[in-house]
Amino acid sequence: MCGIVGYIGNQQAAPILLDGLSKLEYRGYDSSGIAVYNGNEIDMVKSKGRLKVLNELTHDGATLPGTLGIGHTRWATHGSPSDINAHPHFNKDKSIVVVHNGIIENYLKLKKKLENHGYEFVSETDTEVIAHLLDYYYHGNPLQAVTKIMHRMEGSYALGIIFQDHPGELYAVRKDSPLIVGHTDGGSILASDVPAVLKYTRDVFFIENEEIVRMREDSMEFFNVDEEPIEKQATRIEWDVNAAEKSGYEHFMLKEMYEQPKAITDTFSPRIKEGKIVIEELGMADEEILKIQKIQIVACGSASHTGYTSKYIFEGLARIPVEVDVASEFRYRDPILDENTLVIVISQSGETADTLAALRESKEKGARVLGIVNVVGSSIAREADNVMYTWAGPEIAVATTKAYSAQLIALYLLAMKFAHVKGMLDEAGLAGMLEDLKAIPAQVEMLLNNKVNIQKFANRYLAARDVFFIGRGIDHAISMEGSLKLKEISYIHSEAYAAGELKHGTISLVEDGTLVASVLTQKDLYKKMISNMEEVRTRGAFVMAVTTEGNTEVERAADYVIYIPETNKYFTNSLAIIPLQLFAYYIAVGRGCDVDKPRNLAKSVTVE
Ligand code: M6R
Repeated sequence: MCGIVGYIGNQQAAPILLDGLSKLEYRGYDSSGIAVYNGNEIDMVKSKGRLKVLNELTHDGATLPGTLGIGHTRWATHGSPSDINAHPHFNKDKSIVVVHNGIIENYLKLKKKLENHGYEFVSETDTEVIAHLLDYYYHGNPLQAVTKIMHRMEGSYALGIIFQDHPGELYAVRKDSPLIVGHTDGGSILASDVPAVLKYTRDVFFIENEEIVRMREDSMEFFNVDEEPIEKQATRIEWDVNAAEKSGYEHFMLKEMYEQPKAITDTFSPRIKEGKIVIEELGMADEEILKIQKIQIVACGSASHTGYTSKYIFEGLARIPVEVDVASEFRYRDPILDENTLVIVISQSGETADTLAALRESKEKGARVLGIVNVVGSSIAREADNVMYTWAGPEIAVATTKAYSAQLIALYLLAMKFAHVKGMLDEAGLAGMLEDLKAIPAQVEMLLNNKVNIQKFANRYLAARDVFFIGRGIDHAISMEGSLKLKEISYIHSEAYAAGELKHGTISLVEDGTLVASVLTQKDLYKKMISNMEEVRTRGAFVMAVTTEGNTEVERAADYVIYIPETNKYFTNSLAIIPLQLFAYYIAVGRGCDVDKPRNLAKSVTVE
């Protein structure tokens, strides 16, 4: 949700902190700040607004001397985005400074206690409590103070901490918020996520819950909450550094849309061997697959939309009942799970707090949990019983595209595998489906190359007020994603509706010129969909349709038609989503929106 960085070493800290923050800005971007020990005291600069404001204020870090520092880029939770609420936060005599990602749930109680002891607060944040709490417990031993506050704080946190009277040390601690550390050439670095450190090191230590790190210029020590030293192994990061750069594209989102053919291929190709689907990481023998009575899918946002798509495929192909829940609701309905339920949690970041909580709830209830995750080594990847990675590479734009497409592929593979093991998909059927699957990357590429036409069409709708996306069955799931893409980056209100449901109330919102994007890729539902399109068109709607080549009948009910190539009926989502992504993208560009960093959003939602 927020991004934190820290550095101690033989280089000037501020430029390194700003560089790290620039790679973490996707995690939150309403304000930012850095604090650097200058050899005498701690200097701090922070400001509301994008990171570029901080760069300007510090002349790209040049005005802040010192080789020990911490930095933060914020997505506000407690207290509005402002200079005062921006991190870092000081204790009362400015000798301790903290950056924080997460939420301290009992901060009001702690604040009251501290106020009773004479502490005064200047911000509205929960984080300021941490700085004062450290001050309260600090008697010359930083490690002891850190473990003391860990016993008092409830909630989630990744912290970077500097104690002015220990200028050769930088402290970091984690509970339920991601944190990594690594050695650089002549120093040590900490961050919320890998892209921030890739320039300096490829060997990172993933910090686990309730672990503390003491970093020095030339060493790093790890402790548990009892202050006992612990051993940790570094993980080698194999990413290409360019994967996290724009490489000439105007936006990360556009670049990532163009990376979809590769993301799709990389996700399926290692799992197809000699005409069979081999998912070793599933860790389930055929007998165990046969025992699955129910699949429970839990995810948030776009990841949940891939879950809704896959429900039709698991049920249609493998005849396994599927429930799909958004993770923020799942735990609070006391779900019925047992050892014959396979819970599939889907997450690009692997850090989404609601999804992680759902995973834990499911494990507690005795279900087996499979994670479909993009970020290697993330919390969900580590805590799930088994993890199937989507090989989409780093995704930076807040609006997901390539990770979404890769998630669909992972789910197709699972559904086909289960159906085959259950004897519901024979060899010929499987071979045919695999052929269609292998054709998807080239078909996606072809659809992406139609971008100029979609841009022209999008330009006509820059002033749209409301847009409805309608579809039936699997096309309803595509509509959900098309609608989310549009609203999150263009700020145009939009809703996805099951096409047949529109007339039960929502159709009253349709008036002259309302854009209704209709998705119809399922042959058996064409006629029903065309009726629904006519219903809105007679009420003045402008009807855009995304349908399969050959379905020219649609032209009598639509004002603008985009054709996608023929594919297996279960794979149409992978193709129909491409024009919808392009449409959302060009509307947002045309409206002058910040496509990669839409207002109020963050890439990785690590608070519940
Ligand atoms: O990292 P996750 O896949 O768990 O994230 C889930 C959602 O927050 C994410 O898909 C969100 O809806 C995106 N902004 C959609 O583009």
